[in-house]
Amino acid sequence: MKKIALIFGITGQDGSYLAKYLLKKNYVVHGVKRRSSSINTSRVDDIYLDPHKKTNFYLHYGDLTDSLSVLNIIKKVKPNEIYNLAAQSHVSVSFNVPEYTANVTAIGTLRILDAIFTLNLQKKTKFYQAGTSEMFGASKPPQNEKTNFYPRSPYGVAKVYAHWITVNYREAYNIFACNGILFNHESPMRGETFVTRKIVMALCRIYTSGKGRLYLGNIYSKRDWGHAEDYVVAMWKMMQQKKPNDYVISTGKQYTVKNFVNIVCKELKMKIVWKGRGLNEKAYYKNKLIISIDKKYFRTTEVNSLLGDSRKARKELKWRPKHNLRSLAKDMIIKEIKAINENKTR
Ligand code: NAP
Ligand code: GDD
Repeated sequence: MKKIALIFGITGQDGSYLAKYLLKKNYVVHGVKRRSSSINTSRVDDIYLDPHKKTNFYLHYGDLTDSLSVLNIIKKVKPNEIYNLAAQSHVSVSFNVPEYTANVTAIGTLRILDAIFTLNLQKKTKFYQAGTSEMFGASKPPQNEKTNFYPRSPYGVAKVYAHWITVNYREAYNIFACNGILFNHESPMRGETFVTRKIVMALCRIYTSGKGRLYLGNIYSKRDWGHAEDYVVAMWKMMQQKKPNDYVISTGKQYTVKNFVNIVCKELKMKIVWKGRGLNEKAYYKNKLIISIDKKYFRTTEVNSLLGDSRKARKELKWRPKHNLRSLAKDMIIKEIKAINENKTR
């Protein structure tokens, strides 16, 4: 019998990589998409087949803010594994929509866990929660499973609730529930307003057209960036363990946002020159101003330094990343340039 997986957040970056990974492993994959005014399935369109034909991939309308839809989908699909990747996942936006962020990101997790319990699926259904290094927030790096949580945004706070409700349902009801505490991971599928994708998109455009300017916020914040393709493997591995547990997933290498800009420029063979300091720091390419700092991109409260210690996952899951930051940047650049060229020929 094929295993059945249900992915909340199938239309997002990680959802699309995980769906492809599980299909390759011969799973039947079900995903939950929310209704939107224009079609939001572009990341999984390449694996979607007419449901009237034989397929291993199904999409269902649902929403984490709607308990009934959550309960009904789980009741219908009766999955062996549920991956909760759905969230209002933008840290900065969570300051604008804090209540909504809590509803989706925190209470949404409770809705799934409680559906598993209510439907008496504890023995059948395993649960994965997409935890985050944002939960560590202001805690000193390097951060691991023993580091205290000190979130610095409504998003980070909501994820701390999701983490502990997952632990609680595991202990209270014996559900196989695990928390992956994943550090930043990126890819060509990354949302356009996260900093790596924003940088790659802008610099590739400047490189190909000679036009445009990139505005950034705090270029000195430090992140531990990996590739989403590597990180979904860790999610699956956690779900195959004998006992549910929580794991930090990271590369163990840290770079500033400015380092990432320089890496992308190097890959593109663009020689840029940085001048000035603070809000007046700027970068020039062929004597033209291409990067400026804009106060509006600074966070209300910032997470300055994330660096993961993933020794537990490396030992117990035998997981390690294949990509480094250069190969990640390269992958993102290649797909971006391809998309620019395809648009030109349309
Ligand atoms: P993403 O690209 O923003 O995807 C989020 C997914 O959640 C999308 O499919 C989105 O649907 C869906 N969603 C949002 N609100 C929903 C709702 N009310 N009901 C149902 N679905 C909803 O995020 P990602 O980068 O793939 O990350 C996946 C998960 O890992 C998220 O929970 C994120 O917080 C967490 N995480 C991410 C990272 C990272 O660096 N990428 C690190 C640690 C943890 P639409 O497509 O319709 O918007
Ligand atoms: N988005 C953005 N846009 N960030 C900028 C910009 C800008 O123009 N300029 C500087 N930054 C800085 C942010 O202040 C932050 O310190 C860093 O770049 C990374 O920002 P994001 O790419 O938006 O990611 P994030 O670290 O806030 O959150 C991501 O990673 C988390 C894991 O640590 C998201 O994917 C979260 O969902 C995830 O949990």
